[in-house]
Amino acid sequence: MRLDGWKAAAVAAGMGLGLLLAAGAGAEEVAEADAAEAKSIYDARCTTCHGPGGKGDGAAAAALNPKPRDLTSDEWQKSVTDEHIEKIILSGGPAVGMSPLMPPNPDLNAKPGVVDGLRQIVRGFGK
Ligand code: HEC
Repeated sequence: MRLDGWKAAAVAAGMGLGLLLAAGAGAEEVAEADAAEAKSIYDARCTTCHGPGGKGDGAAAAALNPKPRDLTSDEWQKSVTDEHIEKIILSGGPAVGMSPLMPPNPDLNAKPGVVDGLRQIVRGFGK
């Protein structure tokens, strides 16, 4: 009985570590230079519509239909995959069945690290 308890604790600890490692891997995979470039690209290209904090309150947002959603929403964050976020950034709204008002960024096809950085910025809005 006692041994079983220890085993269960060890398994639980192992799972916890696995989760931590998985979370850490996502956070660390973006090189500093890519993260910095992603930040300046967000400020230059995305803020106009999505707003500096991803709330969908950029200067141009009022004129858009549909409007960009609030990317800080927990519910939305949970409903989308990293792949969805990366694909819409690279290929634009129509590539994922959404509005063409979300423009593609084809130059980033050559910069997967920067795409990771942008995805991380978008994920960061949810935290
Ligand atoms: C011209 C305005 C505009 C610009 C610039 C723009 N977006 Fe968007 N974006 C939109 C709109 C509008 C939508 C919502 C499309 C829809 O609901 O069909 C959207 C959707 C998104 C989504 C998906 C949200 C969802 O509902 O699944 C993400 C992620 C996103 N944009 C990120 C970015 C990033 C990162 C950039 C900069 C590289 C960017 N956008 C630039 C207008 C813009």
